[in-house]
Amino acid sequence: MYEFAADPAQPKPAFYRELLAAADGLTAGEPDGVANMANLAALVWQLVPGLNCAGFYRVLDGELVLGPFCGKPACIRIPLGRGVCGAAAASGETQRVADVHAFPGHIACDAASRSELVVPVARDGAVIAVIDLDSPQPGRFDADDQAGFEALAVLVARRI
Ligand code: SME
Repeated sequence: MYEFAADPAQPKPAFYRELLAAADGLTAGEPDGVANMANLAALVWQLVPGLNCAGFYRVLDGELVLGPFCGKPACIRIPLGRGVCGAAAASGETQRVADVHAFPGHIACDAASRSELVVPVARDGAVIAVIDLDSPQPGRFDADDQAGFEALAVLVARRI
């Protein structure tokens, strides 16, 4: 059994340092990338407040394919460049979208989603996956959330 905690009431940089330490401990020593993505999705789902979807898409044969996640059943395949996830994968840049309804080509997998943060995971200069976070709250993600998940993506790149 794992017991991880991170107080979401503390300043976000401190919260994300604790999340990163938990993610490191949870995945250290496990070579299976799917197992690590599954546990990381569960960890984020457990500790990060205000989400309705948290997980991974992997880049496989030139498109995004659904990986381990928590939330409602989601779109399985997304072309690179399509929607928020496809934009992050194609550009290699984090997409922080305060209002998904205003994002051209947004793909609604859960009608409750109002804002989204998608962070690319890069290894050896190539995007191999994205971390996808959806929230039912408009403007849920700020610069601290982006920095926290970009730090997590650096760890994820070595663990999947
Ligand atoms: N909204 C995403 C699709 C993935 S689901 O939200 C899980 C997008 O536009 O890329």
